[in-house]
Amino acid sequence: MIQKLFSQLTGNTYKPQYKIKREIFSAAFSNIYEARDRRTGSLVILKILNEAGEKLAGKMDAGENTKWEGELMLTLDHPNIPVAFDCDSGKKYWIAMEYLDSMLYSYVNSGRDSREEAELIEIFHDIASAISYLHDRGVIHRDIAPDNIMMKGDTAKLIDFGMAIPVGSKVGGGKVGTPSYMPPEMIRKMSFSPAGDIYSFGVVMYEIVTGIKLFSGKLKEERMTRVLNVHPLSPSKLEKVCSHELEKLIMSCVSKEPEKRPQNAHIVVEKLNDMRKGGKTKSAVRKRNGNQKS
Ligand SMILES: Nc1ncnc2c1ncn2[C@@H]1O[C@H](COP(=O)(O)OP(=O)(O)OP(=O)(O)O)[C@@H](O)[C@H]1O
Ligand SMILES: [Mg+2]
Repeated sequence: MIQKLFSQLTGNTYKPQYKIKREIFSAAFSNIYEARDRRTGSLVILKILNEAGEKLAGKMDAGENTKWEGELMLTLDHPNIPVAFDCDSGKKYWIAMEYLDSMLYSYVNSGRDSREEAELIEIFHDIASAISYLHDRGVIHRDIAPDNIMMKGDTAKLIDFGMAIPVGSKVGGGKVGTPSYMPPEMIRKMSFSPAGDIYSFGVVMYEIVTGIKLFSGKLKEERMTRVLNVHPLSPSKLEKVCSHELEKLIMSCVSKEPEKRPQNAHIVVEKLNDMRKGGKTKSAVRKRNGNQKS
């Protein structure tokens, strides 16, 4: 019934200014549409929460210091986070945001063989910068995973702030996120801190560099058990080509113990920046779509 309602939106006008072109994704908490903003003529993404999403957003809105994804996105301003143009909260929850071109994996996998480490480091630097920006604002993302990283041209952007909460908040607790990327402390003790985002980001980097999924399994319980028990081999032991510096950074991020990971996201950004400046990455200095990088 709800699904029918959502598909009926296609071709219609939403909140006078958006003309919905097609549904591009149907998720657990929302439906994602490609739409045209009638005022500007530009393509936008509309994320419209379904009933389950509205419940969660309502909790976030009611929580002390917490904001639902749309309100939170409106406060963010960073080149590696999509721009939110507009949102509505209350009876209906929706966000209009910048349209992004492709998912991280399909981007990386197209031409994987010829992709240089330098290009990967640029992508990692983009995402680490977004994480560091969020942490500076006291926000933890809690769902860093490949499906929540998209590309616009050759710039990577972090999406999906549906699980994001202020550090220390208990709203929307429990085991949240994507099982294969959940930090072990979340699975063991339901605890999540900025170090959890650094861990999840480490798993993403590992998988991109090696092309190997670290904690796979049919059932989510299986995947979580692997997160707790499987100790990843260094990429070089897998005979995957990876610079020593990048390998060292990745392996410290995926440490099972939070205190052995880089102590904050700034350190991760700095290390990636050093790699960009170092000889290894010189061959792939690219035009950055006008985005400034620190
Ligand atoms: N700005 C965007 N541009 C293009 N596609 C997008 C954008 N935002 C989201 N999508 C598409 O929609 C998918 C789901 O978006 P998102 O990750 O925000 O929702 P989700 O949180 O996973 O869903 P839910 O919370 O409902 O489970 C993305 O994986 C991507 O394919
Ligand atoms: Mg998502």
